[in-house]
Amino acid sequence: MSHLNNYVADILTPVWNLLTLSPFLTPIFQMDQNDLLAEERQGEVLDRPVDALHEGRKKIYVESYGCQMNFSDSEIVVSILEEKGFNTTPDYHLADVVLINTCAIRDNAEQRVRNRLQEFRAVKKKNPELVIGVLGCMAERLKAKLLEEEKLVDLVAGPDAYRTLPALLQEVESGRKAVNVILSTEETYDDITPVRLDSNGVTAFISIMRGCDNMCSFCVVPFTRGRERSRDPQTIVQEAKDLFAKGYREVTLLGQNVDSYLWAGGGPKKDIIKSGKDAINFAGLLEMVAKVNPDLRIRFSTSHPKDITEDVLHTMAAHENICNYIHLPVQSGNSRILEKMNRGYTREWYMDRVEMIRRIIPDIAISTDVICGFCSEEEADHQETLSMMEWAAFDFAYMFKYSERPGTLAERKYSDDVTESLKTKRLEQVIELQQRMSLESNEKDIGKVFRVLVEGVSKRSQEHLYGRNDQNKVMIFPKGNLVRGQYVHVRADRCTAATLMGEVVEHA
Ligand code: 5AD
Ligand code: SF4
Repeated sequence: MSHLNNYVADILTPVWNLLTLSPFLTPIFQMDQNDLLAEERQGEVLDRPVDALHEGRKKIYVESYGCQMNFSDSEIVVSILEEKGFNTTPDYHLADVVLINTCAIRDNAEQRVRNRLQEFRAVKKKNPELVIGVLGCMAERLKAKLLEEEKLVDLVAGPDAYRTLPALLQEVESGRKAVNVILSTEETYDDITPVRLDSNGVTAFISIMRGCDNMCSFCVVPFTRGRERSRDPQTIVQEAKDLFAKGYREVTLLGQNVDSYLWAGGGPKKDIIKSGKDAINFAGLLEMVAKVNPDLRIRFSTSHPKDITEDVLHTMAAHENICNYIHLPVQSGNSRILEKMNRGYTREWYMDRVEMIRRIIPDIAISTDVICGFCSEEEADHQETLSMMEWAAFDFAYMFKYSERPGTLAERKYSDDVTESLKTKRLEQVIELQQRMSLESNEKDIGKVFRVLVEGVSKRSQEHLYGRNDQNKVMIFPKGNLVRGQYVHVRADRCTAATLMGEVVEHA
């Protein structure tokens, strides 16, 4: 999930430099040669200060790519390995183990990881003892092949295999290569308290489910992350309570399709429905988390147009601390393309959902994902995507060129027949339109006062702080005596397409 204007040119920006750039406030934050604007985060180093008491332990270096779920997974990985006596380091030259948590959603994401592995090769040449492991979606997609293709890789672990990492590392220590890419229908890591690595101490992500059963024809995620399963709501509520007690004031509930959340004692969703058991759905879960504390703000991502319910919207409207923001990927504005994408809705259905959302929560912000140049997309289809964007007046968007992924339905059934130059041209048009829509959306906010959670110091000025309003828009305001974690009221005086700038005011 993933705004404008915050381009981060340096790919390996350490996390502490990125504290002003939460992925949810910067849907488009990375210039990318292929996508022009891409959502996934790239090569961020997850670290926390080395605890002096722990000196002498083996050191792991974790670098993460892709969606927020991957970053959340890296926190689980570190938690598991710290339990077994490892420390993290921000410098891979000092590491005993380098773990790279990968993304397979588009080809360029994979290419970036391959390039990075080449850089690690040089370090391994000097230090043959160094263990290099590939985790996440690329590990799952390529499995043992990765060991052959990238000869320096010692360990391959898929997204459901992280509990076995200590054993896999032992195997590597005894001279063998180690692979575990078994996908589970049960694993939710619900008993593991993630080590908050990329942390401003104020906002955190909580994974509420894993996998995806949707089979969008372009998407590799169902293959790399397996069947959809929901996490025990009590453990989610407990994690939110613990975070609040530690000073966190915002949690984002993460799932590939949160509207599909269903809990009745664990296991795959299909079995829960078949059993007819009483179950907790996403609206129920949202309510439980909202009740943790009125000062804990709740966000969630990603919603699915085919599954979002009125119930969820009414729950949002009933609880002030559930933010008025929905990420609702449209992908295309043309019904024929949507059917080929296997999205389960039409243009009209999507428009109907947007109308329903705005009727129940009038001051909501909606963001979206758009794919340009999917198989057989004609100019008229593309124009329908543009007209949909204009009609919906999305506040932000993540925009991509279609990238064919091996093994997906689209790769097997359809021809990737839109030329690269046409994909680029369409993407540029989509981006240009969204820049205008985002600016218009922000201009409408000038003069309004918003409640903002202070998240940190602005990247551009030490004298300014940044935070987000309910609608997930970034606001910049003078520092004064404010500190992280405080709620303040800020009046928007000026804006760009990405940011609202203003002054702190007394709340009326
Ligand atoms: N090509 C381009 N974009 C893709 N996405 C998923 N798979 C692909 C692909 N093969 C985009 C979708 C999705 C977002 C997370 O990534 O827009 O919503
Ligand atoms: Fe992929 Fe579709 Fe599942 Fe999203 S809902 S992860 S796009 S298959």
